[in-house]
Amino acid sequence: MCGIVGVLGDHEVAPLLVEALKRLEYRGYDSAGIATVYKSRLDRRRAVGKLVNLSDVLVHNPLPGKAGIGHTRWATHGAATEGNAHPHSCGPVTVVHNGIIENFRELREKLAAHGITPSSETDTETVAMLTAHHMAQGLQPREAVMATVAALHGAFALLFLFEGEEDLMIAARKGSPLAIGHGKGEMYVGSDAIALAPMTDQVTYLEEGDIAFVSRAGVEIIDAAHNRANRDIVRIEPGTTLIDKAGHKHFMTKEIFEQPTVVAEALGRYAPAGLPSFPDRLDFTKITRVVMVACGTGYYSCLTAKYWFEQIAGLPCEVDVASEFRYREPPVTPGTLALFVSQSGETADTLAALRYMKEKADIVAGLVNVGTSSIAREADIALAILAGVEVSVASTKAYTNQLTILALLALHAGRQRGVLTEAQCRGHVEDMKRLPDLMRQTLTLEGKIAKIAETLAPATSILFLGRGVMYPTALEAALKLKELSYIHAEAYASGELKHGPIALIDRSLPVVVFAPHDRLFEKTVSNMQEVLARHGQVTLITDAEGARAASEGTVAQLVLPAASELCAPILHALPAQLIAYHAAMAKGTDIDQPRNLAKSVTVE
Ligand code: AGP
Repeated sequence: MCGIVGVLGDHEVAPLLVEALKRLEYRGYDSAGIATVYKSRLDRRRAVGKLVNLSDVLVHNPLPGKAGIGHTRWATHGAATEGNAHPHSCGPVTVVHNGIIENFRELREKLAAHGITPSSETDTETVAMLTAHHMAQGLQPREAVMATVAALHGAFALLFLFEGEEDLMIAARKGSPLAIGHGKGEMYVGSDAIALAPMTDQVTYLEEGDIAFVSRAGVEIIDAAHNRANRDIVRIEPGTTLIDKAGHKHFMTKEIFEQPTVVAEALGRYAPAGLPSFPDRLDFTKITRVVMVACGTGYYSCLTAKYWFEQIAGLPCEVDVASEFRYREPPVTPGTLALFVSQSGETADTLAALRYMKEKADIVAGLVNVGTSSIAREADIALAILAGVEVSVASTKAYTNQLTILALLALHAGRQRGVLTEAQCRGHVEDMKRLPDLMRQTLTLEGKIAKIAETLAPATSILFLGRGVMYPTALEAALKLKELSYIHAEAYASGELKHGPIALIDRSLPVVVFAPHDRLFEKTVSNMQEVLARHGQVTLITDAEGARAASEGTVAQLVLPAASELCAPILHALPAQLIAYHAAMAKGTDIDQPRNLAKSVTVE
């Protein structure tokens, strides 16, 4: 979602701020702006749309100054207009903000009584107004910000700049991450280390409730109780902030083609000697139930894992989307492992669900791709997804690595609970070790997949079908297609077709069926026949045996290498991703940053 940067520099900061904002583009945004303090005066430039529009504004109307803050905004309160773009200013204060101020209406009313009125529709402007009000009453910037932050409800990261203060930025974190970057005679603030990577690899992460007073000489941090806090400076590994398309047209294709490598890495980490290996605290002899919570693509990896935990480990497993789970107030029985799956580790709903379970479950584990994220830090155990930086808003390699690790975790549970023998467990891991190779073979089918996608692209609606573990695959395929190509897509468990959605079938409806030749193959094919009988346009994604048995009547077939039941949903994710990618290419949409979407959804 929104991105924040700040620089107290030795040189003009406007180009640095725009460059840093560029590195945050992947988070998703619809307007951008920067502000500087120069000769004691605050000034700002803002523009709707991509950063190139802000750069154009700056060419015609440069913004001098060596101290500045910047922001990419993903609209929540108020449309994407220049007036609603950050920074928001009031008197001697300007501020950028990630998150939501829940009590902004109430605060606005109070400020109106003092004659302070907003000029935008945003919640953020209230923060500037309140701080300016405190300063008008005689408080210095530091005390004014402390008083403001104490009055705010919601989840936020804030960065302030002040008139007359060319060596001061104040940052506050409650719910949204912020990183302080240390340079030589310069200091930086960013919503993540990726933004700061070209400037510094020395970073301090703020903790919940922290307020940081940043000058060129360093940073002073106070905690939620306003006591001085010592926070470590950590060195960021270069690989974790690398943003590079490596010759690909889009980050998404680069990330799709990285999957064999990152899956191999996950297999190496979590099954180093032919058997799954997880921290001792994940003791499945004591765990009697697994509750998995996530959003979007992470939710579909959990749905797949539910089949595995139940079938392979005989372990009851419940899966929910975080936005529902957090308000459902589900009863929690002893022996519960609560597992939260999130690429970013910052998804607001998933984090809230984790906090709900923290006091109730026996163990709270996170499966996260960002090791410094809130979910990683707040879980009792953080398992790394090991996918490397994922820039494309549409998740690909994080998904297949989540699946790989969850499959190994289910095997581990099966082994510990005595449902699987060691030999059976080794056999499954052996199968999984073939995955990187099978994935490479599957990626060679890109040309054929592109042709199928081009025929699907003109459709206004597409139906995806699958059974068992292929049902979540169908759901993920529909999500990817919607996100990237804006084509309406739905997924059904194929057995559910005749209970309603079959009414949609006619000659114009493309139907994509995921049907590897597994024990449910015949059942899925029967459902596919029901579609064919009604002239539905079926694309069958299967393996050689499946294609031999069931291609008749289908308009296209995609034949993947044969894979074990555990590997099939991981392998079938690849054509799902490539269909979405090539349909989006055919439609000319913004592939890495689809409209309205954000990479990490830090608001409820
Ligand atoms: C997937 O392509 C998405 N853009 C989205 O559904 C995502 O998976 C979801 O927002 C959850 O994000 P997280 O994994 O970072 O928690």
